Amino acid sequence: MRHSAQVDLIHRFLKLRADRTTDMAPDTRHHDVGVYVDEGRATAERALLFRGRPLVAALSGDLPDTGDCVAVDVGDVPTLLVRGEDGQVRAFLNACRHRGSRVAEGHGHAGRVFTCPYHAWTYDLHGDLLGQPLARDGFAGEDREALGLHPIPVAEVAGLLVVAPGATGPLDVEDWLGGVHDELASWDFDRYRFFDERVVEVDCNWKLAYDTFLEAYHIFSLHSRTVGKGLLSTPAVGDTFGPHGRGVVFGKQLARTVAELPEDEWDLLGHSSVVYQLFPNAVINLPSSGHAEVWQAYPHPSDPSRCRVHLRFYTPDGIPEGPEGDRSRAFFQRNLDFTAEVVLTEDFQQQEAIQRNIASGLMHEMVFGRNEPALQNFHASIDAVLAREAAE
Ligand code: FES
Ligand SMILES: [Fe+2]
Repeated sequence: MRHSAQVDLIHRFLKLRADRTTDMAPDTRHHDVGVYVDEGRATAERALLFRGRPLVAALSGDLPDTGDCVAVDVGDVPTLLVRGEDGQVRAFLNACRHRGSRVAEGHGHAGRVFTCPYHAWTYDLHGDLLGQPLARDGFAGEDREALGLHPIPVAEVAGLLVVAPGATGPLDVEDWLGGVHDELASWDFDRYRFFDERVVEVDCNWKLAYDTFLEAYHIFSLHSRTVGKGLLSTPAVGDTFGPHGRGVVFGKQLARTVAELPEDEWDLLGHSSVVYQLFPNAVINLPSSGHAEVWQAYPHPSDPSRCRVHLRFYTPDGIPEGPEGDRSRAFFQRNLDFTAEVVLTEDFQQQEAIQRNIASGLMHEMVFGRNEPALQNFHASIDAVLAREAAE
């Protein structure tokens, strides 16, 4: 993030702090909790938000070199991303055209060829079928060109790898990020390196899991024994960019530090978390420890009261060999374990409890405060997509 942007955000923080307020939406919003349990709504969301629209699958830094590949499950679509000799990233359904086995797992370097583990069919980096060892004449008469891996529209934008499962044709993401594009690009996500991931099933609707990332208000209370020791609930600064958003959760030491330093030495990132909300289901959290977390909440394929959440954890550069690398690896491992513990227990336990309260049928709405503008924008943006599709 450019220093001038950091300074602007710090000025906003200082003004809000002096005025004893925080960034506000114009009004409160009463929110019908039926959206967390209704089966028809869940079906519409899966169809309209998770098929055919851009979804953040990974970061550019997942595929630094030609021939690098990564298997990511984008909701219920097993997806294989690969960087070709031309530098372009391609995406495929991670399913062999013979009988559907996954052709790759995790992160790897395919070199120039993928080999399916089941009967060893091989594919090149464009997904074209190369070989069928020992098949003899078993597939004679089949059109080999039709046996390439099934392509999925993909684009690389602002250091993000974005796919649209179920879409046809090229993916146009030119305007997708709107006004947050340049700020996101300034983070250089191509230099981050994948460290590890966690995948958890959570007994709540995917939107409840996502809601937990959309306000800082709860930090002083829910996280009083963990991240609340170092981060402020208020004031928080937030901006919306169409359906997307960016919030800043400020560190408790920031005000004291900036008071002692000239403006050109102000350091927002060393004392705060910057949180991007990328519609509909991804969050990129960039805390002061320097790593990047990509969180993705996916609906369960049939049950509105369940979801799957992925945490993809990245270090700001590769980890070197040797003692320094060992220390660095241990540092980031502690950060990953701590982050996962806080969110999976403190946050998601609340969301599971809320889901059970909604399922009672006696709770009909919740209220989003003026001090929770990103929550309001997220749900209004979903409503707008569903209403637009319904009108067409
Ligand atoms: S399923 Fe891949 S080679 Fe048979
Ligand atoms: Fe939280």
